[in-house]
Amino acid sequence: MKIGIFSDIHANLPALKACMQFFREQNCYLIFHVGDLIGVGPYPRECMDFAASQSGIKYIMGNHDAYYAFGIPDSMREGEKKHQQWTHSQIGDFYRDQVQDWHYSKDLISSGFRFTFRHYGLRYDKNDFKSFAENRTVKELDDLFGDIQSDVVFFGHDHQDFERKGRSHYFCLGSAGLNNRPIARVTTLDIQGDGYKINRHEVPYKDGDMLREYDRRNIPEKDLIREKFLIRK
Ligand SMILES: [Fe+2]
Ligand SMILES: [Fe+2]
Repeated sequence: MKIGIFSDIHANLPALKACMQFFREQNCYLIFHVGDLIGVGPYPRECMDFAASQSGIKYIMGNHDAYYAFGIPDSMREGEKKHQQWTHSQIGDFYRDQVQDWHYSKDLISSGFRFTFRHYGLRYDKNDFKSFAENRTVKELDDLFGDIQSDVVFFGHDHQDFERKGRSHYFCLGSAGLNNRPIARVTTLDIQGDGYKINRHEVPYKDGDMLREYDRRNIPEKDLIREKFLIRK
């Protein structure tokens, strides 16, 4: 049984379509998107429409999805707030109820293994995520996911792809939508008999139109976004 897993598409429609085509070609039985479907990218409404048209996929809540579903935190920087408001204005209210129902965490149990899909560490005083930090140590990951008793934890939010072994096998998926070249990072989990294999893949897509959309739609924070997330050499 093959499972397709990706995260942090961030409103990048060509990347989303390329990932889904790849998973279909791989005959994935089930697909998980592990949070941040929207935000940062130029196609929030188009990504929501495309996502809604797909079957056999589960959407896990990310912080950017939660801003749309439940509102923008007061503490957010002004520029980022403007960007989020633009994102939400593109989508409108249509998908809000649906996104509010997305799960913050999902488990899959198969062949005696438990796999958890979660955007990042959760704070239980509210439906919110723990603070981000780069280069998490095994000890920090054990703390971040301290409530999880699983063989493998697949997570996103940190757009780098890395893995560490602590109490669980922590597998950071990397971003499918935000990279410094037009490739989407995706992962497959193949569960067979009494074992499983995890493989990373890079799926190419065409990014010319997507990069031009930032100017065409005059997206708030476009220069900062291109500089920080979408450097092209
Ligand atoms: Fe993200
Ligand atoms: Fe995130």
